[in-house]
Amino acid sequence: MTHIVKVAEGYSFIPREEQTLLEALEAQDIEVEYQCRQGFCGSCQVKLIDGKIEYTEAPVAFVSEGRILPCCCRASSDIIIEVPMTEIPPATGTDN
Ligand code: FES
Repeated sequence: MTHIVKVAEGYSFIPREEQTLLEALEAQDIEVEYQCRQGFCGSCQVKLIDGKIEYTEAPVAFVSEGRILPCCCRASSDIIIEVPMTEIPPATGTDN
């Protein structure tokens, strides 16, 4: 089942089911810092504002309350996350 991922500041998308949340964000040209991509280092963590995720593998890195590791999880409900980034991709299908 697919779920909507909303990035704070009003950008939403529907990830492909086989993608981790990190892969889904990258597919939207949303850059998230990462290193191991396997739940070991913690560098990819983002804030989960609302919704639920499930880990594809149990993370080893320490993650503080309210934060998640997108490299090894998927949305299991519609979610809202806050990603530290400088620029949100422009919305498609609108005239400038
Ligand atoms: S990239 Fe290392 S925990 Fe996600």
